[in-house]
Amino acid sequence: MSRLQREPASTTAPVTYVATENEQRLFRHAFEQRLPLMLTGPTGCGKTRLVEHMGDQLSRPVITISCHDDLTSSDLVGRFLVAGGDVVWNDGPLTRAVKQGAICYLDEVVEARHDSLAVLHSLTDHRRTLYLDRSGEVVQAPDSFMLVCSYNPAYRSSLKELKPSFRQRFVTLALDYLPAAQEVEVIVMESGVDTAVAGRLVQCANSIRSADHAFHFEPPSTRVLVTAARLVAAGASELEAAEVCMLAPLSTDGAVSEALRELAVASLTTNN
Ligand SMILES: Nc1ncnc2c1ncn2[C@@H]1O[C@H](COP(=O)(O)OP(=O)(O)O)[C@@H](O)[C@H]1O
Ligand SMILES: [Mg+2]
Repeated sequence: MSRLQREPASTTAPVTYVATENEQRLFRHAFEQRLPLMLTGPTGCGKTRLVEHMGDQLSRPVITISCHDDLTSSDLVGRFLVAGGDVVWNDGPLTRAVKQGAICYLDEVVEARHDSLAVLHSLTDHRRTLYLDRSGEVVQAPDSFMLVCSYNPAYRSSLKELKPSFRQRFVTLALDYLPAAQEVEVIVMESGVDTAVAGRLVQCANSIRSADHAFHFEPPSTRVLVTAARLVAAGASELEAAEVCMLAPLSTDGAVSEALRELAVASLTTNN
């Protein structure tokens, strides 16, 4: 249970989301039609941010479950626990989300075992019902409940795959890294650096991302760029920030690292 996180409805400032295409509108249509949604895209490209933002927009709390291979269906739906000599049923995060009419967000759903996900079937079709076999309860999802899952299809080290029949239960929005102008906007907004600095960092990331096809590594994400920009805002040089945030985590192969470093230096030192 320790790896399950519950996030209450945002009570603070709304989460800012920079849109690229029609993803907010399609998210809203799926919600209104009570359809489950799957978000795909590389790590750190804005999947979680979109869900948080839409939770704000739709005035629904978001309950996030980080999936992993030890996750059992009991971790999702709940279990009997002994409390003060009594055995009492404890709702899991999925059951709480259904009962509250929340957005339940299963992050990296590909990490969960197929048998743990079977409990989602009756929730993702016309029944919109959760069957709690152990407690005997049948929970009908209110209209305001929405199931959203995400995974990164390009995660090359993963041997896991979602079953096609599972994927076809969802409306799928395929996200990707933002176009440069929007990514610059995000970085300025999240870190406080100016547009020129953000522009160079994005150019640097994009040159590494295009080299990704030759080297096969997980390329630097928007999250990584925000982190690098925060270091620059705190006083690091752009090259230092690129080194520790973008380059160092990429590859342990010396020759590859050197080639990428040259790309990074070239893009950070051009005038743009
Ligand atoms: N479209 C976007 N609008 C605003 N911020 C974004 C956007 N995309 C990425 N970010 C920034 O990148 C960070 C990582 O995004 P996140 O949603 O956590 O990625 P993912 O869930 O795809 O791994 C966010 O915390 C935010 O700072
Ligand atoms: Mg995420």
